[in-house]
Parts: sequence; structure tokens; C-alpha cells
Amino acid sequence: MTNVKIAPVKAPLRYTITAALPYANGPLHIGHIAGAYLPADIHARILRLRGKEVLFVCGSDEHGAAITMRAMKEGTTPRAIVDKYHALMHKAFVDFGIQFDIYHRTSSDLHKETSQAFFLELEKKGVFTRQEEQQYYDPEAKQFLADRYIMGTCPVCANPDAYGDQCEKCGSALSPKELKDPRSTLSGATPILKPTTHWFLPMERSQEWMSEWINTGMLDGVQQHDPTEWKPQVLGQCNSWFKEGLRPRAMTRDLDWGVPVPLPNAEGKALYVWLDAPIGYISATKQWALDHHGDWEKWWKADDTRLVQFIGKDNIVFHCIIFPMLLKLHGGFILPQNVPANEFLNLEGQKISTSRNWAVWLHEYLERWPNRQDEMRYALATILPEFKDSEFTWKDFQDKNNTELVAIIGNFVNRVFVLCHKYYAGLAPEPEGHIEQDAALWAELELLPAKVAADSDRFRFREALANAMQVARLGNKYLTDTEPWKLEKTNDAATRTVLYNGLRICGMLSVVLDPFLPHTAAKLRAMLGLTDPVWDDALRPDLIKPGMPLGKAEHLFKPITEEEIAAEVDRLKATGPGDQVAVGDPSKEKLVSNVKPLVFESPIVEPKPVITFDDFTKLDLRIGTIATAERVPKADKLLKLTVEVGEASPRTVVSGIAEHFNPEELPGKQVLLLCNLEPRKMRGVESQGMVLMAEDAMGKLAFVQPDRELPNGVEVR
Ligand code: MF3
Ligand code: ZN
Repeated sequence: MTNVKIAPVKAPLRYTITAALPYANGPLHIGHIAGAYLPADIHARILRLRGKEVLFVCGSDEHGAAITMRAMKEGTTPRAIVDKYHALMHKAFVDFGIQFDIYHRTSSDLHKETSQAFFLELEKKGVFTRQEEQQYYDPEAKQFLADRYIMGTCPVCANPDAYGDQCEKCGSALSPKELKDPRSTLSGATPILKPTTHWFLPMERSQEWMSEWINTGMLDGVQQHDPTEWKPQVLGQCNSWFKEGLRPRAMTRDLDWGVPVPLPNAEGKALYVWLDAPIGYISATKQWALDHHGDWEKWWKADDTRLVQFIGKDNIVFHCIIFPMLLKLHGGFILPQNVPANEFLNLEGQKISTSRNWAVWLHEYLERWPNRQDEMRYALATILPEFKDSEFTWKDFQDKNNTELVAIIGNFVNRVFVLCHKYYAGLAPEPEGHIEQDAALWAELELLPAKVAADSDRFRFREALANAMQVARLGNKYLTDTEPWKLEKTNDAATRTVLYNGLRICGMLSVVLDPFLPHTAAKLRAMLGLTDPVWDDALRPDLIKPGMPLGKAEHLFKPITEEEIAAEVDRLKATGPGDQVAVGDPSKEKLVSNVKPLVFESPIVEPKPVITFDDFTKLDLRIGTIATAERVPKADKLLKLTVEVGEASPRTVVSGIAEHFNPEELPGKQVLLLCNLEPRKMRGVESQGMVLMAEDAMGKLAFVQPDRELPNGVEVR
């Protein structure tokens, strides 16, 4: 990146938060949730609790070939498809606690008006060029064919069932005209080439300002965002597009399912779904304003509004390049201040696949695990693919529930409530004085709400959750250290103080966990007799009033058994490969396949002086396996690892990688360890070696690993 000085971005007054409008062509699965909706929901909830003005908008994306193909497959109409899946998705979102201010749809009249007016304004401004092209037409079905509607023989591998945009056998990106013996999937007829005219967006004309805006944050001489806040993989994908050179892209299609092009001589033409859908965020906002006597414009036009768009990585180019370009060319709109795209979530060692039914469907989860929304929210929040792909397994879901939700949160709250019922007849005790452990306890607790908020501002929700959980961990430690169940026999005043503090920590948990586990936090507040939380309640000294009645000592979570998990795994494996028709998103296949998703520049490395072979042999390099990993208290960058290197006991190594990896994901990883580096104390811990890491030009770290698993202690030379 260029070495620009970044002026401070104006502090936002309000936040417009969007999450990608899902295609109404199938149910939602946990990959969608971990990609966009859960992080967006956590972010919106934290901001609301902090008293910020927030509008969280979403809706169903109901146009495009994704929908018509599904209709064909189910033997029904596009209308029936979108009605069915819109309702299904909306309900699943609500049940899961994704708290949109509005969940709209792009097949609504308001959206049609809004997107047509937007298109007309662009046309009036002379933004589009018109071009005639030869395109495949089905003479029997009497319509032009979207790329996905054409099949034929792959020119590369001779697969007879390649699609017009891609061969799924060899992975080649294709264009329909390259296929041999093309056929229409609508009628089976041989398509003919026919001229057709479309409205094109000459994207190359905007490349210069676009690239400057993304990479420096500057637009028309004003600092709009701080590019160092953008995720490296988002910048990387945009820059690989710029490197290829932006090209004209058709903004209309010959389709009857879509928003009609509002111009004479455009019969049978519809807006390209990637023009129409993002405008859906705006029409959703308009509908919200109508429903709430609000003003829609400030959410999209006021320059003290911060627009944050949550998406998965397959949507990056549309949200970072095409949509902002359209907004700017239209004029009057703010551009996104960040697009915190997530990578993909895998499932039990494989990519999630709709066509192979390799997925955990949200609506089915909610049916099979009634009132267990937060268990899934938690499991997903701890593995959000924020910087790289991650993996969901049912075993991990069980572990997270049993060893964290039950053992840490549930156990803590339960101990406090049981003891208050036992000793004080269910009334909050009156504290008396302080005990030895209090100062240290509060010194740590006081930092945590601000940390959670700051993590969320940086879109690091795994980290944010870890910091919220730290509240419960400290609570447990406090009880273990003070042992009120013993103390009660000898020191009544101290016991009251301990349990009063315990209740305060419960109150704190009911606030800091709320964004992640809203159902549990509400239950906990009910037990404490608290209502509508605000973020500052977390540390309010008088949140818990002595003498106030407490609810029953309920268990917030219950353990998940081996059988319950085995049933889920069996269920998944039983569904098998199924039918192979890909019902993905045909509109973006080509975009994704003609550009490598992540192109990082090689870092510039200064050569170092030559060393002798003897110098080199002084290094004691060995393969090891990380056994445990934990944060080092009060050190944001450090993790304390123990690494097995074939010795009697593992080595303790302090490593500056805490900002790059979550401790949970490290145990089991093989690493390259420099074993004879002079031991060094960091934050009171002696580090007995150094884990070797590679760093790319974006500053992202990677472990250096053997290409197959090796026994611990194997020498490297
Ligand atoms: N429907 C698209 C998908 O599922 C996302 C559309 S986001 C929007 O990938 F901005 F276009 F609405
Ligand atoms: Zn092929």
C-alpha cells in the first residue's frame, strides 16, 4: 500500500448496518450465518447497547437466475419460490435472534420503484453505454439464455455437461460461445445467436478514483475511511481486480423475472440482479421509514452516517467496487465505510454444499434444538471465519457447550444463585467492606467492557467474545479463591461481600454477553430482576441493590451428550452426495473464477549477510506440536503456548501472535520450533524457544509446518 498519511475519519453519529440480502432460492445454513448475519447482529447489538443510533437492514434477494433456476428445478414459478423461501428465511432469522430493524424483499413494489428511479438517474447522467452483442437465444422457449441455462461440451476436458459459464469437472471459466454442441437447459433445443442490446457500465472509467478511494480512503479530497481498518483480504481482492483492469459490465439482462428496465424499447429486459439487489438495502430503509414515520435519507446521505456492509467473500467485488461506483455515479449517497467480509465456513472437513446437502440448515437446527439458539450462536461466534476459512464440527459444538457455556458461564451463575438462596433466602446480600481479592478482581473486570466494544469496532468478534467470557472466568476464579461455601462458617461479612460481588458479575455478564447470547442474557436479567440493559450498566456500582429478590437458581445451559452429537453426525453423513445440480449463484460464478480471490504482493525482503554452514548448524530446530495455548493476561499480543518437542515435558513458549490467532484453534498444530534460543522472561513467563512464523506483505502470519504430520522432536536441518 502507498505510504499515505491518513487523516482522522469524522466520528460517526449513526450507523447503517447491512447484511447481504440472501437469495430466496433455498434455506439458510450455518455458513451464511457465520459469514454475515451473526457478526452483523453482534455488531449492531453492541452499538445499540452503547446508545448509538443504529439501523440494521436486510431482506431477501428475489431476482436473477438463482431464483428462476430453482423454480425450474422444483417445477414451479419464481413467485412461488421466493414466497416460500422468503418466509422460511425470515422466520429462521427471527427465531435465531438476528435482530434486523427490517427484513424486506426485492420483489416489492417499493423496491421496483426505487431501483427503476436509480437506474433512470444513471441513464440521465449518461453513465451507461449501449452495446449490441450476439447472444444465445432459445428458439423454442423464445428467450435469451443466461449463461447457466446453456450446457454443452467443455472445450478443455470434453465434459459433455459443462455450463455456459463454467465447467464443474475441470474448473475452467467458460463463456457460452466456447461450448461445443450447446444446448438449452430450458427446452433442450440448440440455441441460436441473436443480436441484443444492453446497457453497460463502463467500469474502467471509474477505476482511478475507485482504487484511490479503496486504498487510501480519499474521495473528492475528503478522508472517507481509514484503509488500515479494512481487512487485508478485502483490499487484496479489490486490488487484484484493479490489476486485471476493470471492464465494461452489462447492467441489464434479457429476462422476464426481474425489475423491468424502465425505458421505451427495452421490452423483455430486466435490471441485472447485481444492480437491483444492493439497491434493496435502500428500498428496505425506505420501507422501514414508512413503517416508523422515520426519515430514510439520513441513513444513506448524511455524511456523519457510517455505512458498514457485512458480507461473505464471494460478494466482495459487488459491495466494494460495483455498488459504491453506482452510488457515486448516481450522486448524493455516502459510500460504505467498511465492508468486513468473512471467509467461508467448512463443515466436518468439507466445503458446505447446497447441492450435495452437506450443510446444517438453520431452520432444521432450530427445530431439532428448540430454545438452543445461543448454543449455536456461541459455537459459531468462536469460529467466525474472520481472516481465513474455518470449520464447524459437531464435536466442537459439544465441547464449546459443555466446557465453556455449561462449565464457565452456567456454573458460575448457578453457584452464586444457589448460595444466595441458601444463605440469604434468595435476597441479594448487603456487602460489608472489601476482601483481599477484590482490588485485583475489579482492576481486571473494569477493562473488559471497553475491550469488547473496541474489538467489535475492529470487527474482531471472536476476540470480543473471548473478552466477554473473561468476565465469567474471573468470576469463577474469584469464587474458587474465596470459597464462600467455607467462608460462610467463619466470616459472615466477607461472605456477603463475595456473593454480592458475584451478583454484580452476573449483572455484568447479562450485559456483555447480550450481543452474543441474547436469549441467555435475557434469562439472566430476569433472574436478577433487571430490565432493558445499556452498556454502561456492566460496571454500574449500584446495578444490584442489596435486599432485592432473586429468581430461582436455574441452569442457563445443559450438557450435550455423545448420543445427541452422534445423531447429528449420522444425519449429516446419511444425506450423502444427492443430486448434482448446482443451485448456487450463477450471477457471480464468472466473476469469482476469472480472478484469483487473494493475490498478495510478495514482501520486499532486505538480504542479510552471508553466514557459514557452521553458523547454521548452531540452530536447534525441531518439529513440535502445540499442546495448549492461552492468552497472557494484560498482553494483547502474546500467547502462552506449550509445545511438545519429544522431551519429558512440553516447552513453554511465549509468542507474539495473539492478534493473528485465537488460542482455541492452536492445539494440535505442528510447528517449527527454534529450541536453543536463549530463554527469555516475558510478562513473568519464561519462554523456552521460538515458534517460527512466516509473514506476508500484508503482515499476516502463517505457521511453517511439515507437509505431513511428523513425530514430535524430529530434527530440521
Ligand atoms: N444474494 C446474494 C448472495 O446470496 C447477495 C446479494 S447482496 C446485495 O450472494 F447487496 F446484492 F443485496
Ligand atoms: Zn472441463
